[in-house]
Amino acid sequence: MYTAMQREILKKIRGTATSDGDGVRLTRVIGTPELSDLDPFLLLDEFGSDDAVDYAGGFPDHPHRGFETVTYMLEGRMRHRDNRGNSGLLESGSVQWMTAGRGIVHSEMPEQEDGAMRGFQLWVNLPARDKMSAPRYQDVAPDRIPEVAAGQGARVRVIAGTFDGSVGPVAGISVDPLYLDVALDAGAAFRAAIPRGHQAFAYVYEGGIEGVGAGELAVLGDGDEFATTALQRGARFILVAGRPLREPVARYGPFVMNTRSEVLQAVEDFQAGRF
Ligand code: FE2
Repeated sequence: MYTAMQREILKKIRGTATSDGDGVRLTRVIGTPELSDLDPFLLLDEFGSDDAVDYAGGFPDHPHRGFETVTYMLEGRMRHRDNRGNSGLLESGSVQWMTAGRGIVHSEMPEQEDGAMRGFQLWVNLPARDKMSAPRYQDVAPDRIPEVAAGQGARVRVIAGTFDGSVGPVAGISVDPLYLDVALDAGAAFRAAIPRGHQAFAYVYEGGIEGVGAGELAVLGDGDEFATTALQRGARFILVAGRPLREPVARYGPFVMNTRSEVLQAVEDFQAGRF
């Protein structure tokens, strides 16, 4: 008989308070000295505030090359604009999966003057063969993200990958990602299949699950599935997985390549206006 191998919690990481863009306050969970990356994930930021002072400056024009940025808005509105004339509005519950590829310059600015703004930005690395690919956007409106009722007291939004037979709208991504947003009532049980060999983590942003409290990222060991139970106050967390690239990472700010000379080339191309 086949028995699914459970993914255990290998370690837990707490984020670091920092700011980025034009003074946006956020918590960096991946991309810190404690956890510089979690192949293929390069960065995870949680932003969340009811006070516009913490986010009003937004993220004015900045470049990216060699990876993907994934913005998931839990609450609030963010306007996206790039140097190729693309523009889009990210609303509550929407996601933007942007494959920067060989390079874009863009801004991400709050389109609200007060109220709550809350969400995540995840950076996903690209394999060497795709780093110089043409930039691509997947802007996904909230109603295109399936919400699955999974057993008693569990609701799961499927952003990417497959959960319980539902397939998320984000497609054609190199690392074959899983990105779930999970809401559990107190005591509710949850389990999700994750392909063996893929890197996986859970980040709890409200309440708690077995062994993991709010503001903690659990790095999961290998296996076929992750199973947990919500604590007394219920839980909200993201569960993210992807195929590790196992390639050298040469990183300088918003440029993530395989070698130092490719990074220098990126800086040169950006400065010469070739993005
Ligand atoms: Fe950006």
